[in-house]
Amino acid sequence: MIGFIGGGNMAEALIKGIGRAGDIMISEPSEQRRLHIEKTYAVNTTNDNKALAAAADIIIIAVKPQIISTIAEELSGMDLSKKTLVSIAAGVSISYLKHAFRTDNVVRVMPNTPALVLKGMSVISAADGISPEQMDKIAGIFASIGKIHFLPERHMDAVTAVSGSGPAFISFFAEAMIKGGMALGLDEETVTLLTIQTLNGTSELLASRSPAALIKMVSSPGGTTVAGLQVMQERDAAGLVADVLRAAASRSAELNIKISE
Ligand SMILES: NC(=O)c1ccc[n+]([C@@H]2O[C@H](COP(=O)([O-])OP(=O)(O)OC[C@H]3O[C@@H](n4cnc5c(N)ncnc54)[C@H](OP(=O)(O)O)[C@@H]3O)[C@@H](O)[C@H]2O)c1
Repeated sequence: MIGFIGGGNMAEALIKGIGRAGDIMISEPSEQRRLHIEKTYAVNTTNDNKALAAAADIIIIAVKPQIISTIAEELSGMDLSKKTLVSIAAGVSISYLKHAFRTDNVVRVMPNTPALVLKGMSVISAADGISPEQMDKIAGIFASIGKIHFLPERHMDAVTAVSGSGPAFISFFAEAMIKGGMALGLDEETVTLLTIQTLNGTSELLASRSPAALIKMVSSPGGTTVAGLQVMQERDAAGLVADVLRAAASRSAELNIKISE
């Protein structure tokens, strides 16, 4: 059985992805959330984290990072060594999880918000103790909400910057496009339609060609695209994006240290 501790946004996306066929249970303090999950997904819920941990083979910890130590304390009398513990909490390291929950069977995953529409990107790092069979099960769970990729844990701060925070950076760009289009005289509804459909179409095209190839396809010498790209180069937009990612990754590293202490 797959047990979720925390029935918030990310847990809900995973429940949606796994589907009704999966043997799932959720532990969640909010009665309103429990009723919502029971009604919408026909999944059993409880407000007892210990009962859930005792019943589940795979325990997915889907609470905010600050709550993890409370959960570890609550489960401190239990032997979790035969279970697989999966954490999706940003900035909580495998070594912290092993120490706090006293088990070597630990997997750390960084999903992202597009999981809510089953288009997520989840990066998976496992502790050495995880068997190939356990890994296959975990991979299957996260594959149900989008794409999965395996990386050593040392890359998690970069992953957090690119795919974890990425939806916010891309949304910032979309918002700027919308404001820029309005400044050119388009109404908000129209420019929002144009921007979002352009983002959707572009991301589909990028599935089968490189960004450089797509830029070349759109640009004709002396044309409109080249005029816009020239401003991007003059203002070093690529350098700005690199700085944005660096700031997000170093904040992720800072949070890591705080949680591990
Ligand atoms: N959302 C994302 O895009 C994203 C991406 C990557 C990673 N993550 C990670 O995923 C985790 C969950 O994020 P989220 O967006 O799903 O957060 P969320 O919507 O706030 O969900 C967390 C849930 O845990 C519940 N909870 C609080 N204390 C609990 C306890 N002691 N025992 C059991 N459940 C408890 C909360 O209930 P109450 O509301 O009643 O407190 C809430 O329903 C976070 O660690 C985050 O870092 C999220």
